[in-house]
Amino acid sequence: MNLSAIVKPCQLNTYQQGAIYCQYDKNKLCDFSPQVFNSDYWQDKNAIVGSAQGRGTTWFIEHNNQEWVLRHYYRGGLIGKLINDSYFYQGIAKTRAAQEFSLLAKMQQLNLPVPAPVAYQVVRSGLFYHADLLSQRIEKAQDLVAILTSKPLDPKLWQAIGKTIQQFHQQGIYHHDLNAHNVLIDDHEKVWLIDFDRGEQRKINKSWQQANMQRLLRSFHKEKARLPSFYWQAQQWQQLLHGYQS
Ligand SMILES: Nc1ncnc2c1ncn2[C@@H]1O[C@H](COP(=O)(O)OP(=O)(O)O)[C@@H](O)[C@H]1O
Ligand SMILES: [Mg+2]
Repeated sequence: MNLSAIVKPCQLNTYQQGAIYCQYDKNKLCDFSPQVFNSDYWQDKNAIVGSAQGRGTTWFIEHNNQEWVLRHYYRGGLIGKLINDSYFYQGIAKTRAAQEFSLLAKMQQLNLPVPAPVAYQVVRSGLFYHADLLSQRIEKAQDLVAILTSKPLDPKLWQAIGKTIQQFHQQGIYHHDLNAHNVLIDDHEKVWLIDFDRGEQRKINKSWQQANMQRLLRSFHKEKARLPSFYWQAQQWQQLLHGYQS
């Protein structure tokens, strides 16, 4: 049976109260409250099953037999050291969270391998806002950095990674931060891309596509220099490119 045929479409609901604006998929989250964006709420329910440390903490949650990922939007770089999680508000549609949520929904419709969006929240304070996103966890998956610290990948899998990126590029999907932490492989050797903050659908153009690829290549070099063991060499990049170009 075609799996995509049994995936329920997104049923978008809005919740608004005071400074808080949320949208959520009622098919995935029938008992919505803004508490779902609060990690303490899940901690109290004993629903936190793991976490990952990036800019902030990414929480893995289990709820009603579903696995979710909760992430707060944090800034990187120098500005991030001053204003950690505040963004200038220019309307709900322009917020980081609303944009990532709708891009994920669009990519779902295009059958691209990404986490399904579950809900987002935007909280306004004066001219600024902060935001959170809840999305589905890719089950039994690890990111490329985690995998490559312990074992090498088959050439076929390197090609599959390149081919997957190509599928996104064919649909004009630009990833703002394509790096080895944002490529996941599950236990069926399926390749997934995550973390679409500031991504967007663009007019197809070699120059941003090449920029995506160069960023990924830089990230492999960076991890190789940083980690005592990292199973990646120039040859693997050639295998990935082979898949990308085929
Ligand atoms: N949907 C997901 N399914 C499985 N693992 C995830 C998912 N989202 C994030 N992760 C894991 O958590 C890590 C950090 O998440 P990410 O959303 O990329 O946050 P950031 O890069 O801002 O720290 C990822 O590198 C990955 O290992
Ligand atoms: Mg990331």
